[in-house]
This record gives sequence, structure tokens and C-alpha cells, in this order.
Amino acid sequence: MLNRIKGKMPNWLFIVIKAMRDLPKIINNYIYDIKRYIKYSSSVADNKRLKLEAQITAKYHVIEKGLSMPEPRVGFGKDRVNRLIFLLDRYICKGYCVETTQIQAAIQVLDKYFEFNRSATDNYTLGMVQRANNLFKDIKLNNHIGGTLLMDKDAYLAKTQINFKEFAYGRSSVRNFTEVNVDIDLLLESIKIAQKTPSVCNRQSSRVYLIKDKDKIKEALSLQNGNRGFGHLINKVLIVTSDLNAFKGLIERNQSFIDGGMYSMSLLYALHYHGLGACALNWAVEKGKDSKLRNALNIKENENIIMMIGVGHLPSSFSVPISKRKDLNEVITII
Ligand SMILES: Cc1cc2nc3c(=O)[nH]c(=O)nc-3n(C[C@H](O)[C@H](O)[C@H](O)COP(=O)(O)O)c2cc1C
Repeated sequence: MLNRIKGKMPNWLFIVIKAMRDLPKIINNYIYDIKRYIKYSSSVADNKRLKLEAQITAKYHVIEKGLSMPEPRVGFGKDRVNRLIFLLDRYICKGYCVETTQIQAAIQVLDKYFEFNRSATDNYTLGMVQRANNLFKDIKLNNHIGGTLLMDKDAYLAKTQINFKEFAYGRSSVRNFTEVNVDIDLLLESIKIAQKTPSVCNRQSSRVYLIKDKDKIKEALSLQNGNRGFGHLINKVLIVTSDLNAFKGLIERNQSFIDGGMYSMSLLYALHYHGLGACALNWAVEKGKDSKLRNALNIKENENIIMMIGVGHLPSSFSVPISKRKDLNEVITII
């Protein structure tokens, strides 16, 4: 309708009318995002299990990182260690599960920290050791999952000698699939590889919904606006989300999209590694559709939906768009 009257008025007037039409919608959708962030991130309330666990992870990560520095200083990060013990105390007092990977790793990192600082004799450190011993005395620990690993350069480099260039250049978004069923185990293996994706403070906010039910796949794809012409061939849909519990405060308001985006790329590579065809499917929607998908698939309210990925087996031959990339001089600024 607007486009029809575009040529019949001055351009500035067209822009004003368009802005007046779109602005309330944009503000409305931002309010939806703000409300969700305030309600589900750790910005306000922070003592639910997942929120506490995310803070514990962020804290133990800093200490684990400190232990891996070229020359760690005896007594480094005492206040952070103190805070970590405080958070673990709160977590344990609430009766939350201590067998999760992150709590186990946190306790082990503290152990390694005190081992590194065994020469410290100040009351602050000794007090922390005592509190930690009391707190963790009844907790059974798993194998080595927290602390540092000593890497040998040659061994480290040996693992880089896959042909990543060929692999990365060889991947394309695939929009044509056979009817052969995609084995769930292949998808689980791919998700496991994607778990190695870096994330802010190792907080690992990414989650994956694996949709195998045909009706649910159809319903999900009917809400997505980029699968016309090939959606009916998609065998499984993965939906990557990011748990807002992992984030806190103003400065982390966009972090879920960064962590979720990186995770999604790893997942695309992992699917490619397993010989599957895959296509990222945008979740660029207004709040109404966002709610519809949540309701249809029981996607948790505390998670931001990052994208869908359509997956299937490759036909013996298929076309892909060239999707020409920009030249280096179009993207690089050397300073
Ligand atoms: C976040 C994201 C959303 C995308 N959404 C769609 C989509 O809805 N439909 C589609 O056909 N392709 C989609 N794509 C695929 C892109 O079109 C494709 O990655 C790009 O053209 C580069 O091509 P290539 O993946 O073959 O290298 C999406 C890609 C990304 C990263």
C-alpha cells in the first residue's frame, strides 16, 4: 500500500510516514525483548539453580584461567575465590544438585587453587581453605574435569593438520535432501562437537531442540520464512536457543546472540563433518511468531531462539547457489 503512493509524494514525506508506521512496532518488539531479558536473565533475581550455576561457572572460569597464566602469582584472585565459595555455599544450602559438570569443575578448580597456594599462610587464605573443606567434605568428585592441562606444542599442532581450508570452502548451505532418514545418533554426535564452541566465561548458554516428529517439523517450518521450495524435504530440524539465565546486567544484553551464533556455526560444521546436508534458517520474527513457536514446541521462556537448522541426507547431485564472498579488501581494515 505504502509503495503504491511512494512516487506520488516527496521522498522526505514518504520516509516520515514509513517511520511513523514502523516505529511503534519496533518499540513494541524491543519492549518484548527487554521484558524477557529482565525476567529471565540473572540481572535481577539470581538465586535460581541455573542462574547460580552460571555465576559459579563465570567465577571458577576466571580462577581456572588464572592458574593457566604463564606465571601465576601466589595469592592471585583471592576475592574472586572468596566470592566463588560464597556462591557455592548458597548453591549447596539450597539443596541443588552438586553432581552437575559445572559444580564438580568449580570445586576441583578451588582444590587446584589451594594446592597452588599451599605456601600461603595469611589468615584470609587459610580461612577460605577451612570454609571450602567444610563445605565440600561430603561431596564426591569426578575425574579430572577442573584445573589446567599442560599442552605439548607439537601434539597441539599435530591436531591442526586436517585440511580445514578444504573443509570450510567445501561446505555449502544445502536445500535439497533425499528421503533417507537422518539417524538421531549422527545429530547427537554433531551436537557433541558443537559443545566445544567457545562461550563467554565458558557459561555455555546454548541449547538445542531436536525436532524429529514430522508434524512438529511441519508446524515449525510453517512459522519460518525462508524454507519455501525445500522445507518439505527437510528430514530433521534443530533449533538452537540460548539460555538467558547465563547472562547478567546491561552489558550482556546481546551476548546470547553471539554465543548462540557461534554455537550454530560449529553445529553446521559438525553436520557437514558427518556428511549431512544442512541449511541455517533465520529466526528473524516479530514477537507474535516467537511466542507461537515457543508454544508449539514447548521452548522454554528463558531461552532466546537463535535459529533453526534444516538437516537431511545429500542427493547424489544437487545445486547450490554460488553465494559469492566479498574480497578481502572489502572487509578488512588494517590499523
Ligand atoms: C543466521 C542465518 C540464517 C539463514 N536463514 C536462511 C533461510 O531462512 N533460508 C535459507 O534458504 N538460507 C538461510 N541461510 C543460509 C544463507 O543464505 C547462506 O549461509 C549464505 O547465503 C551463504 O551461503 P553458504 O552457506 O552456502 O556458504 C541463513 C544463514 C544464516 C547464517
